[in-house]
Amino acid sequence: MLFRSWERAPTTTDATGAGSGVVAGARPGADGGGQRWPDVARVTDHVGVAHLLVTRHALVREVLTDPIRYRPDNALDAVTPMPVAALRTLAAHRFRLPPTLANNSGVSHPEIRALVAEALHPTRVAAQRDWLAALVRRRVAALDATLDTGVPVDLHAGLAADLPLLVLARLVELPDAPVAAVKDFARAALELFWAPLDADRQQTLATEVGRFHLVLREFAATGGGLAGRLRAAGHPPDVVVGALFFLLVAGQETTSQFLTLLLHRLTGEPAVLAGLRDGSVAVADVVEEGLRLEPPIVTWRRVAAVDTTLGGTAVPAGTSIVLWLARAGRDPAIVPAPDEFRPGQPGSRRHLAFGAGPHRCVGDQLARMEAATVVAETAELLAGVRVARAPWCPDNLTFRMPDTFLVHR
Ligand code: HEM
Repeated sequence: MLFRSWERAPTTTDATGAGSGVVAGARPGADGGGQRWPDVARVTDHVGVAHLLVTRHALVREVLTDPIRYRPDNALDAVTPMPVAALRTLAAHRFRLPPTLANNSGVSHPEIRALVAEALHPTRVAAQRDWLAALVRRRVAALDATLDTGVPVDLHAGLAADLPLLVLARLVELPDAPVAAVKDFARAALELFWAPLDADRQQTLATEVGRFHLVLREFAATGGGLAGRLRAAGHPPDVVVGALFFLLVAGQETTSQFLTLLLHRLTGEPAVLAGLRDGSVAVADVVEEGLRLEPPIVTWRRVAAVDTTLGGTAVPAGTSIVLWLARAGRDPAIVPAPDEFRPGQPGSRRHLAFGAGPHRCVGDQLARMEAATVVAETAELLAGVRVARAPWCPDNLTFRMPDTFLVHR
C-alpha cells in the first residue's frame, strides 16, 4: 500500500519517463495491481513534499545497493511534520532517534549492525524453532476447538500479533514490559512516523511513544544482552536506546504483520494449501512467494546524496526517494507470473521485501523461520475455514499494519 492518494498510476509522463502527477482511473492496491506505472514517478505527499517513487525492480535495487549516491539518513523521518506541542512532549520524555541502524550512513553502522546480527545469528534462530512450533501447535489446537463450536476466531490476535515478540525476547534481552504495552508502543511509532496525521493524533501518539521510550532509556542504562554489549562497545546512551527502539519495532511488528497478511492470502489460495498438506508444495517456497506478494513493508526511503540520474531521470541531491518494494516484487522482469501465488516459480526469491545492500534486513532468517513455522502448523486449519472479516489496513506510507482477521468454519 502506498499513501491512498498515490495508489493511482500517473497517466502522463514527461520526456524523462517520470510521471508528472497522479491521476484517477485505476484500482487501488498495495501493488498498484496491473497498472502501468512509469519506472520513476514524481509524487507529492499530503503535506506538499515531493518524492521520486521508484517502481522497477532493477532501479529499486540500484538505489538500495549504492550507499555513495543514495543515503538511508531519512529512513525514520516523520512523513507528517510534528507540531511544536508533539515535539515538546517527545523532548520531555528525552526522545531522540540518532543514526543507529536503518538510518545510519556513518562509520558506527557496521559495528552496531554486527552486534545485532550476532544476537540474530542463524544458529540462534534455528534453536528457537522447536519451541515456537510447540507453542503454535497449542495455539492452533485451541483455535480449532473454538471453530468447532461455531464461533469465529481472530487469527491476527490468536497467532500473528505476539509470537514474533515472544521469540525476539528469547533472542535479545528486552525490558520487562507487558506484551500489550510493547505492541501498542510499536504500532504507535509506525503511525507517528509513517502515517498522514492531524495534530491531535500526533499528540496522542507522541505521548505513547515518549512514555515507552523512557522505559527503553532506563533499560538501555542497565540491561544485559545486546544493550550491555552496545554499552561495552562504547556507544553512548542515545545510540543504545535508538538501536533498541528500532529493534523492538522492526524486529517484531513487521513479522506480525507479515503473518496476518500471509495467512489471509493463503485462505484465498486453496491449491497452495492442498499442496502444503500433501507435501507437494514446500513451506519455504510459500513463505518466499508470500514475501514477494504480501510484504509488510511496502516502501522504504533513501535520500540522494549527490546530483545523479536514475533510469534516465535527473535526481538532484537531497531528493527524497520512495522505493516501492511491493511493486518491485511484481516486476515482470523478475517473475513469469508476477501477480500469481505460485510457490517456487523462477525468480520468486528475488523480491526486495528485506531491502538490499549494506542495510539489508538482519532479521530475515528469523522472520522466515517464524513464518515457515506458522504456515506449516496452520495449513490444515486454513483449508477448512472461510473469511468472516478480512484484515483492514490503515493509510500508511510504509507499513501495512493489518488488524483483526476473523475466520469461521
Ligand atoms: C517479514 C519481516 C521483515 C521485513 C519485511 C523486514 C524488512 C526490512 C527492510 C525493508 C529493511 C530496510 C533494508 C534496507 O534499507 O535495505 C530492514 C532493516 C532491518 N531489519 Fe527487518 N524486516 C523484517 C523482520 C525483521 C526482524 C524479525 C528483525 C530483527 C529481529 C529485523 C531487523 C532489522 C534491522 C536491525 C534492520 C536494519 C539493518 C541495517 O540498517 O543494517 N527485521 N528490514
